Parts: sequence; structure tokens; C-alpha cells
Amino acid sequence: MMYAAIMGYGTIGSGVAQILLESRERIARCAGQEIGLKYVLDLREFPDSPVADRIVHDFRVIEEDRQVRLVVEAMGGLNPAYPFVKACLNAGKHVVTSNKALVAAHGTELLQIARDKGVNFFFEASVGGGIPIIRTLYRCLMGEGIREITGILNGTTNFILTKMDREGASFDEVLREAQELGYAEQNPQADVEGHDTCRKIAILTAMVTGKEVNYEDISTEGITRITDMDFCYAKELGASVKLLGSSRIVDGKVYVRVAPVMIGREHPLHAVCGVYNGILVKSDMLGTSMYYGSGAGKLPTASAVVADLIEAAQNEGINVPIGWGAERQEIADNGTSKSSYFVRIFGDANEKAKAVQEELGEVRTLVLEGADEFAVLTREMSEAEFTRHAIALDSKWQKDGEDGIRQIIRTELEG
Ligand code: HSE
Repeated sequence: MMYAAIMGYGTIGSGVAQILLESRERIARCAGQEIGLKYVLDLREFPDSPVADRIVHDFRVIEEDRQVRLVVEAMGGLNPAYPFVKACLNAGKHVVTSNKALVAAHGTELLQIARDKGVNFFFEASVGGGIPIIRTLYRCLMGEGIREITGILNGTTNFILTKMDREGASFDEVLREAQELGYAEQNPQADVEGHDTCRKIAILTAMVTGKEVNYEDISTEGITRITDMDFCYAKELGASVKLLGSSRIVDGKVYVRVAPVMIGREHPLHAVCGVYNGILVKSDMLGTSMYYGSGAGKLPTASAVVADLIEAAQNEGINVPIGWGAERQEIADNGTSKSSYFVRIFGDANEKAKAVQEELGEVRTLVLEGADEFAVLTREMSEAEFTRHAIALDSKWQKDGEDGIRQIIRTELEG
């Protein structure tokens, strides 16, 4: 018997407890021994829950119990998750977490402590919820050179964007629903401003490069400026708007970004809707592969945590070589990255056609009946070039006392 403790009895922690208690035999078969749940750490009592008699309020009970070899961190946030996880690893316990904020901020140090102590620090559930992407990278694709990872990595924002697209629902209304369903972060700003996706793509990039990625180096835009008008134009194009975290390795440089992107029907991520996540990997021998599944929610995320617990139990006394080292990965300037752009402009398409063409060259123009604006799709150009033209156009119109550019979204409409 190997004993486990869960820190945090919220959505994920209660899901892990449920699976450990309900699937004891199957887990024992896989792990080679039974995994017994000894403690659940939380500030609250849960008198009517199946773990009522295992609740503890003092972290030291877990830290000091030498029988506890496996610890699940499901508290979220950095404090006290970080000091608790560090203490558990230093006490020679395996730690499994679903906490991307913790992995992105302190992963380098925690991975090193795990190596030094001959235990494991696993974090499959920190990216893509229940989708096995971390293990896929370090195990299944270990012989591959990865050129790109682009993913829909946040269930909450994908849920919101899908509902806005399909039902014309309002942003606030759908966000509330996502919170009620347990998809959103404690502070949903982390979802809608793209910070959650940013941490996830930072972790995936570090997995691929083997170097530490500072998530603060990643250019991050959320979905708060996406409106129903954007979806009206997208419909005309058979396209949709998705929040993508993307990491591309070109000529040894690593370009990483989080931003909403208008993608066409042929794009493999177009069909990833609702709370689902999808992660597209381009590698040198396999080519394109995609990983799809539930990106958030109690049991899907807990399923990934339990798989990590089993792998840790299978590797008692062995540190499985995963993750990255202390060397910092430089993130390249996105100014040279190329894209085409969807631009919404106030006013009449005919009146503004000449100015638009002078700056942006040949464009495809989209007009919606009854709208006081129009939109254009540009040719592909570098981000730096586009920004120069967009600033010139906008300031010209503002000088003439008019509204100018209302929206800019990068596009990938070719599939
Ligand atoms: N808030 C996150 C999401 C939870 O919506 O994807 C899973 O990381």
C-alpha cells in the first residue's frame, strides 16, 4: 500500500478523491500496489463527504507522515501551494499538481528538487485538463524535433467564444455559466485576459526546448475585445475566432504568442468547440498530430492527476527525466512573424478604399448590410510592417476627426 494525500478539496481535489476511492482496484492493478488516500488538507470541513474522516487542517500532518509518499497539490495559486509543494519534495515525497501557475512560476526549481531527491514532480493536468499532452511530449514524441505547438488551451474562453459564435450570447452571461460549471479560474480574468493560456504555452514550450521559459516574456492578448460583430464577419468567411497559444521554432529562434485568431473551416483547430481543448503539434517525422479532449472540469482534470499518481507509484525511488533545466530560453521578437489581418474600419468602404489600399495594398473587403463600418482582409505581412501601416491609417483618420480602426485580429484562413 502506498499512501497519498490531497491538498485542496475543491473541484479538482474532490475529483481526484472520487477516482481514488471509486477505482481502487484498477488503480492498484496499474500501480502495482494499492494507493490509499490518507489525508485531505483543506481549511473547511466536509462532514457529508466520503473523505470526512480524512480531512486535516495542518499541513505538517502530511509533511511529517513518512507513510505518505504521494501528494496531490490541487489548491491552485502560488501561496501556500509553492511552499507546501517544495516542502513535500524536500521530504522525499512525489508531488503531482494541476496548477499551471505554480509550474510556470516555479517549475524549474521544483523539477530540480525532485531530481535531487530521487522523486517525481508531475504536472500532466496543468495543461489541457484531461488531455495527455505533457506525457505525449516527453514519452511518445521523445524522438521528434518539434517545430510548432499551437493550442486552444483554455476551456473557459473556448466555451465563451463558441457560445458567442453559435448563439450570439453575451460575454458576461456565458462567463457566469462557465464559472458555475467549474471551468473558470478563481479569478476569471486569468482566463479571459489570456494569462492562463500564457502559462500553459510557456510550460509546453519549456517541455519542447528543455529550457526555462519566463511566461512574462510572452506577448499575451485575451478575448475581452472580441465582439458579436467580429463573429458576423467571421460567419461570412466560414471562419471562427479562437484564442490560440502558439509556439513556433524557426531557424533556432522560438516565437511564442497568445492571441485571438480568426481561423478558417479547414484549420484543424476550427472544430474544437465548447470546453474542449485541442493541441496541434508539428514535428519533423510524424508531421502534424493533434490531441483533443476536455480541457477543464472536475473528472477530466482529475483523470490526468490520477495517471500521474500511478506513474509516480510505478517509479518509487526513480526520478523520471522530464521537464527542463535552469538555462533560460530566449523568446524571439514577434515583429518579424508573418500573418494576414482582419481589420474593422469605421465608415464607408468606398470612401476609404483609396487610403486603405495606399497603406495595406490589395485587400479583400467585407461589407455587412446596415453596418456603419466595413472590414478588410490583408495580404500576409510581418507584424512590424502591419503595425506601421495600421498606425498610419488610424492617425490619418483621427487627424480628420473620424473614428478609425475598430478591431484587428490575426487570421489563418488558409487551413
Ligand atoms: N480555467 C481553466 C480553463 C481550467 O478554463 O481551461 C483548466 O486549466
